[in-house]
Amino acid sequence: MSQYLDRAFSSASLGPLKLRNRIIKAATFEGRTPGGIPGKDLYQFHKQFCDGGVGMTTLAYCATEADGRVSHDMMYMGDHIRPELTRMIDGLHQTGARVSGQMAHCGYFSKNQALQRVRNPKGPSIQLNTLGMTVGRPLAGAMSEKDIHYMVKTYRDAALFMKEVGFDAIEIHFGHGYGLSQFISPKTNRRSDQYGGSLANRMRLPLRCLEAVKNAVGDDVAVIGKMGLTDAVKGGLQLEEAVEVAAMLDQGGIDGLITSGGTSSFNVMHMFRGTSIADGMAEMQKNRLLKSVFKMVGPRIFKEYPYQELYFLEGCKRVRDRVRNAQMIYIGGCHTMESLEVVMREGIDFVQLGRALIKDPAYVNNASRQGHKYVNGCTHCNQCVTMIEAPGGPHCPLNVQPAVVEERV
Ligand SMILES: Cc1cc2nc3c(=O)[nH]c(=O)nc-3n(C[C@H](O)[C@H](O)[C@H](O)COP(=O)(O)O)c2cc1C
Repeated sequence: MSQYLDRAFSSASLGPLKLRNRIIKAATFEGRTPGGIPGKDLYQFHKQFCDGGVGMTTLAYCATEADGRVSHDMMYMGDHIRPELTRMIDGLHQTGARVSGQMAHCGYFSKNQALQRVRNPKGPSIQLNTLGMTVGRPLAGAMSEKDIHYMVKTYRDAALFMKEVGFDAIEIHFGHGYGLSQFISPKTNRRSDQYGGSLANRMRLPLRCLEAVKNAVGDDVAVIGKMGLTDAVKGGLQLEEAVEVAAMLDQGGIDGLITSGGTSSFNVMHMFRGTSIADGMAEMQKNRLLKSVFKMVGPRIFKEYPYQELYFLEGCKRVRDRVRNAQMIYIGGCHTMESLEVVMREGIDFVQLGRALIKDPAYVNNASRQGHKYVNGCTHCNQCVTMIEAPGGPHCPLNVQPAVVEERV
């Protein structure tokens, strides 16, 4: 095995954490928390990656409050799931892997019909909530200063809770069109107060949330962030500003940065590349009207981008060259051993894998044994993405029998 593959599969520190290797399971929404409650299915999903050797797995979309969920079937952090999460994280720790939680708030991008605190979802500015249209909530409101202070508090409370239940790392979501990214993006933030306008103003809320999380967890929990290199939409965040976003998060003391791109709201295929999810999304719709709408407008919403390996590498390197202290975590189409070597040779610290691990949960064990002979087999068909809301959640259709572990939480 080359020195670069050796580096990938050897232990490394991420902020205050020691990981057994540099491969991290990326947050891929599991679709295994019906009603927002974690149970055996979620545990088994993550156990397969941990048994398969990853250094750390990531529980996707841990909302900071009930109304921070895109849908009712997502978890929000709170006492109602304390025993389940504590048991689950304990169980995953037994494998030797670390456990991260992706901390998120949807802002206005919501189709949650069980809103508790607000009547309509809110973001930085009044706007059309295209996702909300599917449930008859097409209009999103603008957050008041009071709402903003409250949001910061939800990040602090969620962080305290996540530390208590045993998460080793918290991955704050600053990208993909969710709440904090709505403030960063000039397309969705049209405020004229101290939270809108200049980049410094648009970053005020995200930096306050970062500070609140860091103060809440202290020095034992790694605090990392997933950010966008571009919104890939006219009027949205572009690379030049994104590099400065990274510099600000770095100055704010973030331990690691994951450089993704695209948004779920405007251009989701920029995040994935490969086969468009248009047909799959239409197929998954149960409502006949929505099915026809998806068939008609799907190809325009879900643009096809040809897949190429390491499609976010250039942007990631720009960020790497700009930040001083934050460690770099690569994400986006690192599916071959050659690509893994390139990322390691560039001095990037960690790699997050989404689809490659859905295809082969034992990627680390297999690849570290086979070296250059290892072939992952993910074809970027993106069918796993279309299954986000399917019964049983996303899995790889190419795997005849998805790996299942028997153990109970
Ligand atoms: C089924 C599925 C669900 C996803 N859910 C999330 C999510 O909840 N949060 C997130 O930040 N990214 C999510 N992603 C995006 C991945 O984290 C990652 O950015 C993307 O798949 C590119 O990495 P890859 O080439 O290693 O798959 C999801 C991806 C897939 C395939």
